[in-house]
Amino acid sequence: MWEEKDIKKVLVSEDEIKARAAVLGKQIAQDYQGKSPLLVALLRGSVPFLAELLKHIDLDIQYDFMDVSSYEGTESIGDIKIIKDLDTSIIGMDILLVEDIVDTGRTIETVKKTLLNKGAKSVKVATLLDKPSRRVVDMKADYVGFAVENEFVVGFGMDFNQRYRCLPYVGVLKDECYQGK
Ligand code: IMP
Ligand code: MG
Repeated sequence: MWEEKDIKKVLVSEDEIKARAAVLGKQIAQDYQGKSPLLVALLRGSVPFLAELLKHIDLDIQYDFMDVSSYEGTESIGDIKIIKDLDTSIIGMDILLVEDIVDTGRTIETVKKTLLNKGAKSVKVATLLDKPSRRVVDMKADYVGFAVENEFVVGFGMDFNQRYRCLPYVGVLKDECYQGK
């Protein structure tokens, strides 16, 4: 792939992601047995992980998308702006939020609270990656693909300035890719 030339190292390979998504998908199917959860994927980074997970959740599930961003340059840390809201009614629904990476935890914690306030019955979190060392709010994802060190990563949905999302693995960029940005 053309983006590969910018990658310093591969952190999680495509095979490792696929194998882990299969394990998590089966675990999710077991935990939600008899239920019909709504998977809510946060745009845009979680789309490849959602697609991988879906193959392994053998339940009557639906999925929908939300797009949120943090308010930049304000004091109200943790506040998020909803750019695209759900099209599905969530009252009484069991929701599984699907995220690419949980970093400080602010985004997912705020979305979780918002959905519970709007009447969701339960909200759990599945994330491909977790950076526990960066956490500023007390939140633990229910399903974690891989824990990673405090290092900026790209690929499998994750971007740097909207690039590198299409790489089929998770990697770290060469230092020169950040220069002048
Ligand atoms: P949080 O609110 O700090 O947990 O932010 C999580 C969001 O920040 C993720 O959904 C990503 O969109 C983005 N993010 C955090 N760390 C990385 C990274 O290493 N690479 C790419 N995006 C990241
Ligand atoms: Mg994200």
